[in-house]
Amino acid sequence: MSSHATKNMFEKYTLPTYTRIGPIFTKGRGSWLWAKSGKRYLDLFPGWGTAILGHCHPRIAKTLSAQAKKLIHLPNNLYQEEQALLAKGIVERSYPAKVFFANSGAEAVEGAIKFSRLYGNGRYEIITMTNSFHGRTFGALSATGQKKYKQPFKPLLPRFKEVRFGDLESLLKKISKKTVGVMIELIQGEGGINVAKRHYIKKIQDLCQKNKLLLIIDEIQTGMGRTGKLFCYQHYGVTPDIMLLSKGLGAGLPISALVVKRKIADIMKPGLHASTFGGSPLVCSASQEAFTIIQEEKILNNVTGMSAYVFNQLERIKKQCHIIKEIRGMGLMVGIELACDSYPLFLECLKRQLIMNSTHQNVLRIMPALNVTREELDEGLHILKEVVDVFERRKSPSTRR
Ligand SMILES: Cc1ncc(COP(=O)(O)O)c(C=O)c1O
Repeated sequence: MSSHATKNMFEKYTLPTYTRIGPIFTKGRGSWLWAKSGKRYLDLFPGWGTAILGHCHPRIAKTLSAQAKKLIHLPNNLYQEEQALLAKGIVERSYPAKVFFANSGAEAVEGAIKFSRLYGNGRYEIITMTNSFHGRTFGALSATGQKKYKQPFKPLLPRFKEVRFGDLESLLKKISKKTVGVMIELIQGEGGINVAKRHYIKKIQDLCQKNKLLLIIDEIQTGMGRTGKLFCYQHYGVTPDIMLLSKGLGAGLPISALVVKRKIADIMKPGLHASTFGGSPLVCSASQEAFTIIQEEKILNNVTGMSAYVFNQLERIKKQCHIIKEIRGMGLMVGIELACDSYPLFLECLKRQLIMNSTHQNVLRIMPALNVTREELDEGLHILKEVVDVFERRKSPSTRR
């Protein structure tokens, strides 16, 4: 089938929810994607941050293939080993908890909202943050702190109280008798890579403990080694009451998890919540293998080393380029704030066979595979520098800092 024909089929048969661009991709391996034409692309944003071990890691592919021959799916009223082992693996690597499995980030967020209602027993307000992103389902969207996603769907669910990310005073003021929890990303991803300060998060935990509020940490983007520790909260000296995982959890496969502190977990009773596909043996086996690979291939060391390298190189580039305002992030979650719209730069990178992401109007986001090499980063940074130079030349001196 020609590329033109494929694109036409998308036009004709799929809902126009996405602005699709680029060629037709047919194959991926590690940090690389191949288009139908045979052209190779460097992917520094594989699977929207889900492919933490790159595309089609051979051990994930092997695990999936073996599991597919044994058992693909089982309803959640029957027992299987894979889900039990994965839940145990997550808990042993985080904190005493019990896990509920679902399929997407938003579904985990919905689970957290429902759990909060049970825990609150009459308290139902959740404090959320400006610029946050928790997903597109109705509850998750209501918790999201960005107007552009919410506006067309109003009225949304009430009972979410938004406060400025980083502003402890306004959070304090919003706590009422009806407040049941605080939902926060430690690093806002879609919101432009904004890193929360350690003392701010510690203070939020103190406030939560004092007021019997749930500290709900959305690690959907930051979890699974992305920031150099397995879970980002481990950098902050706090422990969530509820942690939300997805994206990297399945190393590219659809899975999410609601990780609820053990001492409150049994508030949830049979029949109150469910997900038909959640925690299937197929995806759980892949997720377990991802944890094993992270450990055996010393992936967290690579994140730390490559992170230092990429931040260093980007700071060097920034010194030579006026349109780069700030470099932000942690581990291999990197944001480059520009003095201009980031989407045209993203498009120009794509033309030059480099895939990154443009978010929050003026931020280029890089979230490479956690096993990315220095050579791959060098190649990406080289293309990025060329593109920044092109845009730099286009800018008039008056718009420069
Ligand atoms: C922090 C965070 N929470 C929730 C979500 C929603 O996840 P999903 O798109 O899988 O529903 C995302 C997606 O980008 C996210 O980054």
